Amino acid sequence: MQLYLDTANLNEIREAASWGILSGVTTNPTLIAREQGVDFKATISEIATLVDGPISAETIALDAEGMLREGLEYAAWHPNVIIKVPSTTEGLKAVYQLAKKGIRTNVTLCFNAAQALMAARAGAFVVSPFVGRVDDTGVDGIQLIREIATIYKQDAAISTKILSASIRHPRHIVDSALAGADIATCPFKVLQQAMRHPLTDRGIEQFIADWKARA
Ligand code: G3P
Repeated sequence: MQLYLDTANLNEIREAASWGILSGVTTNPTLIAREQGVDFKATISEIATLVDGPISAETIALDAEGMLREGLEYAAWHPNVIIKVPSTTEGLKAVYQLAKKGIRTNVTLCFNAAQALMAARAGAFVVSPFVGRVDDTGVDGIQLIREIATIYKQDAAISTKILSASIRHPRHIVDSALAGADIATCPFKVLQQAMRHPLTDRGIEQFIADWKARA
Protein backbone atom coordinates (compact mmCIF):
# COMPACT_ATOMS: atom_id res chain seq x y z
CA MET A 1 0.00 0.00 0.00
CA GLN A 2 1.31 3.43 -0.94
CA LEU A 3 1.30 6.41 1.41
CA TYR A 4 0.11 9.89 0.45
CA LEU A 5 0.12 13.00 2.59
CA ASP A 6 -3.28 14.64 3.16
CA THR A 7 -2.28 18.30 3.43
CA ALA A 8 -1.58 21.51 1.53
CA ASN A 9 1.18 22.52 3.94
CA LEU A 10 4.44 22.77 1.98
CA ASN A 11 6.68 22.32 5.02
CA GLU A 12 4.93 19.08 5.98
CA ILE A 13 5.19 17.84 2.38
CA ARG A 14 8.89 18.77 2.18
CA GLU A 15 9.60 16.96 5.46
CA ALA A 16 7.64 13.77 4.65
CA ALA A 17 9.12 13.69 1.13
CA SER A 18 12.61 13.72 2.68
CA TRP A 19 11.73 10.48 4.52
CA GLY A 20 11.40 8.76 1.13
CA ILE A 21 7.90 7.43 1.84
CA LEU A 22 5.63 9.71 -0.18
CA SER A 23 3.92 8.50 -3.35
CA GLY A 24 1.46 11.40 -3.70
CA VAL A 25 -0.49 14.20 -2.01
CA THR A 26 -4.20 14.87 -1.55
CA THR A 27 -5.69 18.29 -0.88
CA ASN A 28 -9.25 19.47 -0.40
CA PRO A 29 -10.82 22.94 -0.07
CA THR A 30 -10.57 22.80 3.74
CA LEU A 31 -6.85 21.94 3.65
CA ILE A 32 -6.16 24.72 1.12
CA ALA A 33 -8.11 27.22 3.25
CA ARG A 34 -6.08 26.17 6.33
CA GLU A 35 -2.95 27.55 4.58
CA GLN A 36 -4.29 31.09 4.91
CA GLY A 37 -3.99 33.36 1.89
CA VAL A 38 -2.16 30.93 -0.41
CA ASP A 39 -2.90 30.83 -4.13
CA PHE A 40 -4.46 27.49 -5.15
CA LYS A 41 -2.65 27.13 -8.48
CA ALA A 42 0.71 28.19 -7.00
CA THR A 43 0.31 25.73 -4.11
CA ILE A 44 -0.60 22.75 -6.32
CA SER A 45 2.22 23.61 -8.74
CA GLU A 46 4.72 23.84 -5.86
CA ILE A 47 3.57 20.49 -4.42
CA ALA A 48 4.15 18.94 -7.85
CA THR A 49 7.80 20.01 -7.67
CA LEU A 50 8.19 18.36 -4.23
CA VAL A 51 6.50 15.00 -4.87
CA ASP A 52 6.70 12.91 -8.03
CA GLY A 53 3.25 11.31 -7.87
CA PRO A 54 -0.46 12.08 -8.11
CA ILE A 55 -1.51 15.41 -6.54
CA SER A 56 -5.27 15.69 -5.95
CA ALA A 57 -6.87 19.10 -6.53
CA GLU A 58 -10.58 19.36 -5.74
CA THR A 59 -13.28 21.01 -7.83
CA ILE A 60 -15.72 23.46 -6.22
CA ALA A 61 -18.54 23.39 -8.82
CA LEU A 62 -21.58 21.25 -8.02
CA ASP A 63 -22.59 20.62 -11.64
CA ALA A 64 -20.75 18.37 -14.10
CA GLU A 65 -20.13 21.18 -16.55
CA GLY A 66 -18.45 23.29 -13.88
CA MET A 67 -16.43 20.34 -12.57
CA LEU A 68 -15.29 19.62 -16.10
CA ARG A 69 -14.29 23.24 -16.65
CA GLU A 70 -12.34 23.38 -13.38
CA GLY A 71 -10.87 19.92 -13.97
CA LEU A 72 -9.52 20.87 -17.38
CA GLU A 73 -8.00 24.02 -15.89
CA TYR A 74 -6.29 22.17 -12.97
CA ALA A 75 -5.07 19.32 -15.21
CA ALA A 76 -3.19 21.85 -17.35
CA TRP A 77 -1.11 22.93 -14.31
CA HIS A 78 0.95 19.72 -14.17
CA PRO A 79 0.66 16.17 -15.59
CA ASN A 80 0.53 14.74 -12.04
CA VAL A 81 -2.59 16.71 -11.08
CA ILE A 82 -5.59 14.44 -10.38
CA ILE A 83 -9.05 15.98 -10.41
CA LYS A 84 -11.04 15.40 -7.23
CA VAL A 85 -14.83 15.39 -7.58
CA PRO A 86 -17.51 14.43 -5.07
CA SER A 87 -19.45 11.13 -5.06
CA THR A 88 -22.56 12.54 -6.76
CA THR A 89 -24.25 11.83 -10.07
CA GLU A 90 -22.84 15.13 -11.38
CA GLY A 91 -19.42 13.93 -10.20
CA LEU A 92 -19.88 10.68 -12.18
CA LYS A 93 -20.65 12.67 -15.33
CA ALA A 94 -17.49 14.73 -14.85
CA VAL A 95 -15.38 11.58 -14.22
CA TYR A 96 -16.75 9.98 -17.39
CA GLN A 97 -15.97 13.05 -19.52
CA LEU A 98 -12.53 13.62 -17.98
CA ALA A 99 -11.60 9.94 -18.39
CA LYS A 100 -12.44 10.18 -22.11
CA LYS A 101 -9.88 12.99 -22.32
CA GLY A 102 -7.29 10.88 -20.47
CA ILE A 103 -7.53 12.99 -17.29
CA ARG A 104 -7.32 11.07 -14.01
CA THR A 105 -9.90 11.62 -11.25
CA ASN A 106 -10.26 11.01 -7.53
CA VAL A 107 -13.89 10.42 -6.50
CA THR A 108 -14.01 11.74 -2.96
CA LEU A 109 -16.49 11.79 -0.07
CA CYS A 110 -17.27 8.10 -0.65
CA PHE A 111 -19.37 6.62 2.16
CA ASN A 112 -20.72 3.38 0.71
CA ALA A 113 -19.51 0.62 -1.59
CA ALA A 114 -22.22 1.31 -4.20
CA GLN A 115 -20.78 4.81 -4.67
CA ALA A 116 -17.33 3.23 -5.09
CA LEU A 117 -18.62 0.73 -7.67
CA MET A 118 -20.29 3.50 -9.68
CA ALA A 119 -17.16 5.67 -9.50
CA ALA A 120 -15.17 2.76 -10.94
CA ARG A 121 -17.72 2.14 -13.69
CA ALA A 122 -17.56 5.83 -14.67
CA GLY A 123 -13.78 5.53 -15.03
CA ALA A 124 -12.35 6.96 -11.80
CA PHE A 125 -8.59 6.60 -11.29
CA VAL A 126 -9.02 6.41 -7.51
CA VAL A 127 -11.93 6.39 -5.09
CA SER A 128 -11.63 7.90 -1.61
CA PRO A 129 -13.67 6.18 1.13
CA PHE A 130 -13.62 8.40 4.26
CA VAL A 131 -12.73 5.84 6.94
CA GLY A 132 -12.59 8.22 9.92
CA ARG A 133 -15.83 10.00 9.08
CA VAL A 134 -17.60 6.62 8.68
CA ASP A 135 -16.24 5.61 12.11
CA ASP A 136 -17.66 8.89 13.47
CA THR A 137 -21.18 7.70 12.53
CA GLY A 138 -20.74 4.54 14.60
CA VAL A 139 -20.17 2.31 11.56
CA ASP A 140 -16.85 0.50 10.91
CA GLY A 141 -14.98 2.55 8.29
CA ILE A 142 -12.47 -0.22 7.60
CA GLN A 143 -15.33 -2.57 6.70
CA LEU A 144 -16.12 -0.13 3.86
CA ILE A 145 -12.56 -0.56 2.51
CA ARG A 146 -12.97 -4.35 2.76
CA GLU A 147 -16.25 -4.30 0.82
CA ILE A 148 -14.88 -2.08 -1.95
CA ALA A 149 -11.75 -4.26 -2.25
CA THR A 150 -13.91 -7.40 -2.58
CA ILE A 151 -16.18 -5.80 -5.20
CA TYR A 152 -13.28 -4.43 -7.26
CA LYS A 153 -11.49 -7.79 -7.17
CA GLN A 154 -14.55 -9.51 -8.68
CA ASP A 155 -14.16 -7.59 -11.95
CA ALA A 156 -10.86 -7.66 -13.81
CA ALA A 157 -12.05 -4.69 -15.90
CA ILE A 158 -11.94 -2.41 -12.83
CA SER A 159 -8.56 -0.74 -12.39
CA THR A 160 -9.76 1.99 -9.99
CA LYS A 161 -7.53 2.19 -6.91
CA ILE A 162 -8.82 2.41 -3.35
CA LEU A 163 -7.45 5.45 -1.53
CA SER A 164 -8.24 5.20 2.16
CA ALA A 165 -8.93 8.75 3.38
CA SER A 166 -9.96 10.50 6.59
CA ILE A 167 -7.22 8.58 8.41
CA ARG A 168 -7.19 9.54 12.09
CA HIS A 169 -4.53 7.33 13.72
CA PRO A 170 -1.75 4.85 12.86
CA ARG A 171 -4.04 1.83 13.32
CA HIS A 172 -6.15 3.13 10.41
CA ILE A 173 -3.03 2.87 8.19
CA VAL A 174 -2.42 -0.77 9.15
CA ASP A 175 -6.09 -1.76 8.92
CA SER A 176 -6.48 -0.03 5.55
CA ALA A 177 -3.57 -2.04 4.15
CA LEU A 178 -4.93 -5.29 5.58
CA ALA A 179 -8.41 -4.53 4.20
CA GLY A 180 -7.06 -4.12 0.67
CA ALA A 181 -6.54 -0.37 0.16
CA ASP A 182 -3.99 0.56 -2.53
CA ILE A 183 -3.16 3.90 -0.90
CA ALA A 184 -3.73 5.61 2.46
CA THR A 185 -3.65 9.39 2.56
CA CYS A 186 -2.57 10.54 6.00
CA PRO A 187 -2.28 13.78 7.95
CA PHE A 188 1.37 14.60 8.73
CA LYS A 189 0.72 14.14 12.46
CA VAL A 190 -0.47 10.56 11.91
CA LEU A 191 2.66 9.68 9.91
CA GLN A 192 4.79 11.06 12.76
CA GLN A 193 2.76 9.11 15.33
CA ALA A 194 3.13 5.93 13.28
CA MET A 195 6.93 6.07 13.57
CA ARG A 196 6.91 6.66 17.33
CA HIS A 197 7.14 3.81 19.80
CA PRO A 198 8.24 3.98 23.45
CA LEU A 199 10.22 0.74 23.06
CA THR A 200 12.10 2.26 20.10
CA ASP A 201 12.99 5.29 22.27
CA ARG A 202 13.93 3.12 25.25
CA GLY A 203 16.04 0.87 23.02
CA ILE A 204 17.92 3.85 21.58
CA GLU A 205 18.57 5.21 25.11
CA GLN A 206 19.84 1.82 26.26
CA PHE A 207 22.13 1.36 23.22
CA ILE A 208 23.62 4.83 23.68
CA ALA A 209 24.09 4.33 27.43
CA ASP A 210 25.79 0.94 26.87
CA TRP A 211 27.99 2.43 24.11
CA LYS A 212 29.14 5.27 26.36
CA ALA A 213 29.80 2.90 29.29
CA ARG A 214 31.86 0.43 27.27
CA ALA A 215 35.33 -0.39 28.57
O1 G3P B 1 -8.82 14.59 2.17
C1 G3P B 1 -10.01 14.11 2.64
C2 G3P B 1 -10.01 13.44 3.99
O2 G3P B 1 -8.85 12.73 4.21
C3 G3P B 1 -10.44 14.33 5.11
O3 G3P B 1 -10.23 13.80 6.38
O4 G3P B 1 -10.08 14.08 8.84
O5 G3P B 1 -11.30 15.81 7.45
O6 G3P B 1 -12.27 13.54 7.81
P1 G3P B 1 -11.01 14.34 7.69
